[in-house]
Amino acid sequence: MTASFKILLMIILGIESSCDETAAAVMEDDKRLLANVINSQIDLHCIYGGVVPELASRKHLEDIYPVVEQALQQADITLDQVDGLAITQGPGLIGSLLVGLSFAKALSLVKKIPYVGVDHMAGHLVSVFLGENKPEFPYIALIASGGHSSIFHVTDYFHYRLLGRTRDDAAGEAFDKVAKILDLPYPGGPIISELSKNGDPEAISFPRSWLDPDSLDFSFSGIKTSVANYVKQNQQLIANGNEKRRSTTETANICASFQEAVVDVLAGKTMKAARNLNVKTVVLAGGVAANPRLREVFRQQGDREGFAVYMPPQKFCTDNAAMIALAGYHLFRQQAAVTTLDMDVYSRSRLTELA
Ligand code: KG4
Ligand code: ZN
Repeated sequence: MTASFKILLMIILGIESSCDETAAAVMEDDKRLLANVINSQIDLHCIYGGVVPELASRKHLEDIYPVVEQALQQADITLDQVDGLAITQGPGLIGSLLVGLSFAKALSLVKKIPYVGVDHMAGHLVSVFLGENKPEFPYIALIASGGHSSIFHVTDYFHYRLLGRTRDDAAGEAFDKVAKILDLPYPGGPIISELSKNGDPEAISFPRSWLDPDSLDFSFSGIKTSVANYVKQNQQLIANGNEKRRSTTETANICASFQEAVVDVLAGKTMKAARNLNVKTVVLAGGVAANPRLREVFRQQGDREGFAVYMPPQKFCTDNAAMIALAGYHLFRQQAAVTTLDMDVYSRSRLTELA
């Protein structure tokens, strides 16, 4: 006699609205991404050189319905087929988070779909599983984004210990601020990494902030000031009539030298954490993980030290709802986390307090 098993697949609709992307994704279990829609607000904010919170929340309000509808269409399903909603609860811009959470609560109430709140950082931590090559636990993960630069020891989907974090600016924030200093558009990361390709990373010796020898914390405000001072001195030359304006080569050299200094510290401290804890797997994620030079240096240093290095494809490094759906799926499977309607948003990550 053959036993017949009904395999219950879970369809999760993930929604992300913590900053300047309105995103929705549909996942079938943790295996198949059926839809991934991201509506970026960059065009709206770039004229201000950064995200304007009030404008961001208003734009989320306009976009959230069509973005979710598009994701359902892409997945070729209706809301009736959705088993669970996963919504970014925090950290992020409160007004923006509230739009996503209120939308999810309304869907949950009307369609009787359970929902879970997902920490945005937990989303970045599991985003590596959206790639073809998936790591095994435990691993050391660097999450480098616009709001955080944190090193975690990750032992399973929901057990992580913070080993180090930034004491001031996050790595992505440093890229964004340096871009502003150089009159480059927001967000700074993509344009700086592009211009760096034609620059000399050794042209200018910007400081590496290693802090005290045992620390796994980061500090990126000093390098931002160094770039500002360097640029100011160059502008002095213009005023003296020694030079008309900064040349393209000079801009590329500043970008490449700055990028190299940030990459050195991010990779160096992450590898050190893996050595300290004798963990053989290293993961890189978060928006800054889209940086080609950082990806290259992680691979090179990992190879040299005998670590297996994993990172999500670039499209899953910057904010997306697929990582929220995936983290939500694991929360649902734990069955402990199904949330009630009084759940609120929060602005600081619950993962980033040192244990
Ligand atoms: O994870 P993310 O999309 O949003 C946050 O959670 O903050 O990260 C956005 C950050 C921005 O600061 C952006 O400049 C940076 O990631 N970023 C990059 C690159 N692409 C995005 N930084 C360096 N190189 C890149 N290619
Ligand atoms: Zn993020």
